[in-house]
Amino acid sequence: MNIFILLSIIMLMPLCLAQDISVEKLLAYNQWSSQHQRVYLNENEKLFRQMVFFENLSKIQEHNSDPNNTYSIHLNQFSDMTKEEFAEKILMKQDLVDHLMKGISQEATHNDVNKEIQLNSKSLTLAASIDWRTKGAVTSVKYQGICGSCWSFSAAGLMESFNFIQNKALVNFSEQQLVDCVNPANGYSSQGCNGGWPAQCLDYASKVGITTLEKYYYIGVQQNCNVTGTNNGFKPKQWIYIRNTSNDLQSALNFSPVSVLVDASNWHNYRSGIFNGCDQSHIKLNHAVLAVGYDQQGNWIIKNSWSAHWGENGYMRLAPNNTCGILSSNLQVTA
Ligand SMILES: *[C@@H]1O[C@H](CO)[C@@H](O)[C@H](O)[C@H]1NC(C)=O
Ligand SMILES: *[C@@H]1O[C@H](CO)[C@@H](O)[C@H](O)[C@H]1NC(C)=O
Ligand SMILES: *[C@@H]1O[C@H](CO)[C@@H](O)[C@H](O)[C@H]1NC(C)=O
Ligand SMILES: *[C@@H]1O[C@H](CO)[C@@H](O)[C@H](O)[C@H]1NC(C)=O
Ligand SMILES: *[C@@H]1O[C@H](CO)[C@@H](O)[C@H](O)[C@H]1NC(C)=O
Ligand SMILES: *[C@@H]1O[C@H](CO)[C@@H](O)[C@H](O)[C@H]1NC(C)=O
Repeated sequence: MNIFILLSIIMLMPLCLAQDISVEKLLAYNQWSSQHQRVYLNENEKLFRQMVFFENLSKIQEHNSDPNNTYSIHLNQFSDMTKEEFAEKILMKQDLVDHLMKGISQEATHNDVNKEIQLNSKSLTLAASIDWRTKGAVTSVKYQGICGSCWSFSAAGLMESFNFIQNKALVNFSEQQLVDCVNPANGYSSQGCNGGWPAQCLDYASKVGITTLEKYYYIGVQQNCNVTGTNNGFKPKQWIYIRNTSNDLQSALNFSPVSVLVDASNWHNYRSGIFNGCDQSHIKLNHAVLAVGYDQQGNWIIKNSWSAHWGENGYMRLAPNNTCGILSSNLQVTA
């Protein structure tokens, strides 16, 4: 036992009396915190973080030992955050989302004509399953960092895949450009690390073009918009909202990946399996991701932006139908 662990045990003595904290748990904490290179402000914060971590560890052990659960959870980079902190730092701010959602329902009606055209042209043959990863149409999983910029990853992923399908070139696009430039100064209501809306990214990119990750790399904080002119790269010409049924989302996925909004309040520690852990009676859309397919059982295949260490190598399988609100607000580039 090294000195650090001994010290930790001594520091935790008062807590140990109240809580049953075993050496095993302390070892788990020390291993986890050095793996994730945790640095805390002071001893008080460290003790608080340890308590949160221990609670989460117990929750994980309990969840994973129940054979009725269809998915497993584990420790990851979020394991010393409270649920509120996770929502605050990683997900989109609720009041901003509510504000954006009002705009969407109006926009959706404007796009109804396009929607019908698209559905008619491709509703004939629905594949039993589809996975755009196997077609080489999906870029590597990214990491948004401690910044609610999921919306820019969802939109960039959507454009990357469409660009591949249309132009046969798989290129990483710049999320940072979207975080910096799809802002109130340019006439959009998206707000950098607080949250934003993928449709505004498409509108912006259709006018200015989206450049590559290589040219405008990700830093995970909002800065000044650093592009000029209107010829910066890929430009989507047309996009549509997808109607909120499983059949519509499946048929859209036969055409390309789809940008989807979800409630990710309970996604933080997902490891593998079919996720169905959302509170279906209180869906709050607070995260944007990319749906890249569905399997034969109707589970949705989701690309997230929380690094390849999260979930199934950065992906999640979500139970069929409207799990976590996945049918609520979806978008696809069509030209
Ligand atoms: C699993 O589900 C069955 C049937 O719904 C139930 O009887 C059983 O108590 C559950 N097991 C656990 C460990 O919750
Ligand atoms: C960790 O535990 C805290 C305290 O019980 C809880 O609020 C939170 O949901 C858990 N956070 C994560 C990210 O698992
Ligand atoms: C995209 O960027 C990642 C690094 O974030 C890199 O590993 C990957 O090869 C890039 N993909 C393409 C298609 O350029
Ligand atoms: C903008 O880009 C230029 C060149 O690409 C770079 O030198 C400059 O530091 C960037 N400015 C900001 C604010 O990122
Ligand atoms: C789908 O949209 C309709 C209105 O277009 C709404 O009445 C219904 O509640 C929505 N269903 C779901 C599952 O979101
Ligand atoms: C969910 O979808 C499956 C088919 O994918 C269907 O059989 C089932 O009835 C649906 N469940 C709900 C609650 O809508």
